[in-house]
Amino acid sequence: MNRREFIGWVGVGSLASSLPVVIAACSSQTKSESTTNPVRADGFQVVGKVTDLDKNGQLLNEEIAVGKVLVIKDSANTSNLIAVNPTCTHKGCIVGWNKGQNAFVCPCHGSKYASDGKVINGPADQPLSTYTAKVEDNEVLVKGS
Ligand code: FES
Repeated sequence: MNRREFIGWVGVGSLASSLPVVIAACSSQTKSESTTNPVRADGFQVVGKVTDLDKNGQLLNEEIAVGKVLVIKDSANTSNLIAVNPTCTHKGCIVGWNKGQNAFVCPCHGSKYASDGKVINGPADQPLSTYTAKVEDNEVLVKGS
């Protein structure tokens, strides 16, 4: 096999081995887009229903354009919503709202964040990012801030 033949075989092999990855990437992107609510002209996007937020005490959506979103009601004023990116800043686990501790708690290594996203206890040392949130027609909407 000469050099030209070898490069041709390597090129065909690389293309063939990467084809399944390309197909998987395209199919998952299509699926994600089809389940995502559109971003409105004012930048807000629907996260879910107020009834689900009331029922569960928190509303998690991991498939919207701004990123993962976890919404809770402000315990000091339940007409206000608090929305954070629930991705723990330590190693990326998804935090949940713990009403008893009045904190977002990470299940992996125990980091705790206040309702405004600031770190209460590590090992995380960076706050959760936050979103602007509001309610319209029984829907919870967020906008990147
Ligand atoms: S990933 Fe959250 S504390 Fe480690």
